[in-house]
Amino acid sequence: MNILVTGGAGFIGSHTVVALSEAGFRPVILDDFSNSEPAVLEGLNAILGFSPRFYAENCRDLDILKRVLKEESIDGVIHFAAFKSVGESMREPLKYYENNLGTLMALLEAMGDCSVPNLIFSSSATVYGEPSKLPVSETALLPAPISVYGSTKQVCETILSDQVAAGKPLKAFSLRYFNPIGAHPSAQIGELPRGVPNNLVPFITQTAAGIRQELTVFGNDYPTSDGTCIRDYIHVMDLAEAHVESLKALFGQRQPSYYEVMNVGTGQGHSVLEIINTFGEVSGKPLDYTIGERRQGDIATIYADVSKINGMLGWNAKRGMREGLEDAWRWQQSLG
Ligand code: UFG
Repeated sequence: MNILVTGGAGFIGSHTVVALSEAGFRPVILDDFSNSEPAVLEGLNAILGFSPRFYAENCRDLDILKRVLKEESIDGVIHFAAFKSVGESMREPLKYYENNLGTLMALLEAMGDCSVPNLIFSSSATVYGEPSKLPVSETALLPAPISVYGSTKQVCETILSDQVAAGKPLKAFSLRYFNPIGAHPSAQIGELPRGVPNNLVPFITQTAAGIRQELTVFGNDYPTSDGTCIRDYIHVMDLAEAHVESLKALFGQRQPSYYEVMNVGTGQGHSVLEIINTFGEVSGKPLDYTIGERRQGDIATIYADVSKINGMLGWNAKRGMREGLEDAWRWQQSLG
């Protein structure tokens, strides 16, 4: 089976390319490097022993998409290509709506024209905002979005469910990711944030490597056990494997129009201080940190109810937060 992976040079995309190949699928990458590096392709080659097919193209270009779907005899698509910075999305809303909605709409049109019905869409736990019940399940009512980025994810989910409600020949999953961390254990691929990282784990590894001066914990007055925020940190290889299982389920699905949303997390919550302390243990580099102000838009606690994905696909996260931190640190050290 031939799988188009848009954004396949990105963090989650590149690890999914590895998981797809290991499961016997043939991944075809489409990525314009707007937020990724060509060096990822060398890492993939080192892991897989071959270079996956690659198109350095933008995912909003309908003609290109149709050409790739036909040329590569694509059977299914995993759509990662999107902008993901919450802060930037608040400063540049139009850029986010144009790109995140535009790529999905072009893809749906191309898939319709080329009779490719199977799609996995990258959604995010951000659609839940501050959940009223924990662990948060897919049945939770979605609040007004907490950022433009979150709004684009909600709208994309709506587009998919509307297409299916209209009876279009589309079989799709939206996977709501919690907090991906880690790297491939070979340290050949991993997260490559541009500039100062927004996310906790790359900030920690860069601080331990001496690239950043100091780690700031954004608030310790939340209503949690140690006062710092709680998140569900999922190893990127577990997340990648969840895509493979999702794809298999779509191929086995007989209904011509079909749509489900699924949480992809571990079901476990960890505080910021737990992450910092565990990182100190696994790296042997206890980190200094200061307690700062709360970061605007952060919620106190969220972690996933994973019973749906477990029941439907038999998938469960196999790796823990500690392993994620070990792999993230190995990857950071490999960058020199
Ligand atoms: N944090 C710090 N210091 C830092 C960075 C983060 O204390 O330097 C804290 C945050 O306040 C938060 C926790 O670490 O409590 C996790 O923060 P991340 O930025 O790593 O993750 P978020 O939960 O904020 O982000 C996740 C996804 C994003 C998504 C966002 C939406 O990683 O892709 O949820 O809210 F957009």
